[in-house]
Amino acid sequence: MGRSHVRTRRDADPGGYGFDLETLERPVDPRRLFAGAPGDAPVEVEIGSGKGSFLVAESELRPDTLFLGVERARRYWLYAADRLRRRERPNARIVRGDAREALEAMPEGSVAGLHMYFPDPWPKRRHAHRRLLIQPEFLAACERVLAAGAPLRVVTDDPGYFDQIEAALASRERLVRRPYEPPASAREGELAGSNFERKYRLEGRRIQAAAAVLSADEDDALANEQG
Ligand SMILES: C[S@@+](CC[C@H](N)C(=O)[O-])C[C@H]1O[C@@H](n2cnc3c(N)ncnc32)[C@H](O)[C@@H]1O
Repeated sequence: MGRSHVRTRRDADPGGYGFDLETLERPVDPRRLFAGAPGDAPVEVEIGSGKGSFLVAESELRPDTLFLGVERARRYWLYAADRLRRRERPNARIVRGDAREALEAMPEGSVAGLHMYFPDPWPKRRHAHRRLLIQPEFLAACERVLAAGAPLRVVTDDPGYFDQIEAALASRERLVRRPYEPPASAREGELAGSNFERKYRLEGRRIQAAAAVLSADEDDALANEQG
């Protein structure tokens, strides 16, 4: 996203809502970032939160779930953290850092759901597809943090990227495809309900979505495939 898309308030303050991945003690157990939250509350992670609209809306509708955003760009991270702080969202936090590193830092099986809405489709140059985030290696990192049965959702407006995502999902045996269900905060006719979806729908772009759940183990995945 370009610099012009966000104007962070002069007095923006992440308060206790925004964290820097680099400074967090390893392993990064997401629940530690939510002071006072029940130890068994499910944690869902959004990758590439942008301005944080999904975190704000979804955390309000589902107060028993903890939502952690991961955002690489400092200005978006600060904008989103400041929003969460001003709205005093008890169950939403955002970490500044790269999604791959964030997932690597989290304990195995610690995540009850992964949301990826409009992952950046660039760069578009030759061989660029190798640098796009959602690839088999990245999905392996997703599998490691997901709890058995937990869903992963991806939405994109980029047809080439969507094909790549489908191929990457097909290459991962433990990720079993499921019909896509929009999150609670999506409005009628929306797949994600994020800022980018609303913007792209106005432009008439086609938006596609995919979902999968982590099977309990590799044998289950095989049985699913055959069955
Ligand atoms: C196109 S925007 C989508 C924002 C939001 N999800 C939406 O749908 O409105 C993609 C966001 O992902 C962030 N991003 C891209 N690559 C990332 C990575 N490797 N780790 C964390 N965030 C990333 C970008 O900085 C940007 O804010």
